[in-house]
Amino acid sequence: MKRYTFRPKAAILLVRETVDVLKRALGEKKANVKISLDLGLTKSEVKLNESGVVFPDGSIVELEILDKMKTGDVCMVKEGNVFKVAFYANGRYYRLLAVGPDRAPTLEVSGIHMHRIENITPWRDALEKVRALRVFDGARILDIGTGLGYTSIIAYRQGAEVTTVEIDPHVLEMAEVNPWSHELAAPHIHLWLENAATLVPELPKNHFHRILHDPPRFALAGELYSKSFYDELFRVLKPGGWLYHYVGDPGKWRRKKLVAGVNKRLKEAGFETKKQVAAGIIARKP
Ligand SMILES: C[S@@+](CC[C@H](N)C(=O)[O-])C[C@H]1O[C@@H](n2cnc3c(N)ncnc32)[C@H](O)[C@@H]1O
Repeated sequence: MKRYTFRPKAAILLVRETVDVLKRALGEKKANVKISLDLGLTKSEVKLNESGVVFPDGSIVELEILDKMKTGDVCMVKEGNVFKVAFYANGRYYRLLAVGPDRAPTLEVSGIHMHRIENITPWRDALEKVRALRVFDGARILDIGTGLGYTSIIAYRQGAEVTTVEIDPHVLEMAEVNPWSHELAAPHIHLWLENAATLVPELPKNHFHRILHDPPRFALAGELYSKSFYDELFRVLKPGGWLYHYVGDPGKWRRKKLVAGVNKRLKEAGFETKKQVAAGIIARKP
């Protein structure tokens, strides 16, 4: 079992909308402008001159280079260069996807984004999932599928002690660059780099007050939708504890079938399924 030491990385990050602000300011011959260099969490002043933009690390970047950024890109400024926050690893393409200025990004893995982004922001998506669980101060929470850590961080901010598990080291690498994920380093968030199907059987029984299960879609992680996995979730949850299980927005015929299958297996594992909320199922251990 591998505990993961999360190491936030400081970086200067830009999105297309920020470049548009810089472009306007340069056009108006301003000497400086306040923009966000951390995807909206704080504002910093950058200097402008005829060569381009002078960033706080001393990097000078020409407008023509910045202007190549496309909507949706998250780019890092480093030593006078601009790099898209994206990479290939193990046959997959990982990229941080900006959903607007001053917003928490999502992570796209080979074209699939890990939060809902239609008519909702990634942060709001995570907030709704945590709210559905009614987390309380001092609760012990198991958050399965750390991703960018938004659900873990929101639960932690609500006073929970969080245990979270992620199978993919490249996802955590991205989280280390994303300022919205940096609170994953908090002492009350216990992060494991492991397959949840291996970790959960090792956890003590009747231990967690709440479980937030936010798996990838069924086709990508069938194991996390299996009766034997639900048996383990049931075992580690306290009697009276709640499970939130993301299933996606029902509507499509195939999704309805999935939801019916999840409900059936949860009941077989001993859960009482309660209702559907925040595109997920709430279930309770009697
Ligand atoms: C939908 S994302 C979770 C998003 C997260 N709740 C957040 O707020 O950022 C699902 C995550 O589960 C991870 N995952 C997939 N299979 C897993 C497994 N067997 N064990 C642990 N994590 C897994 C994926 O790599 C992905 O990062």
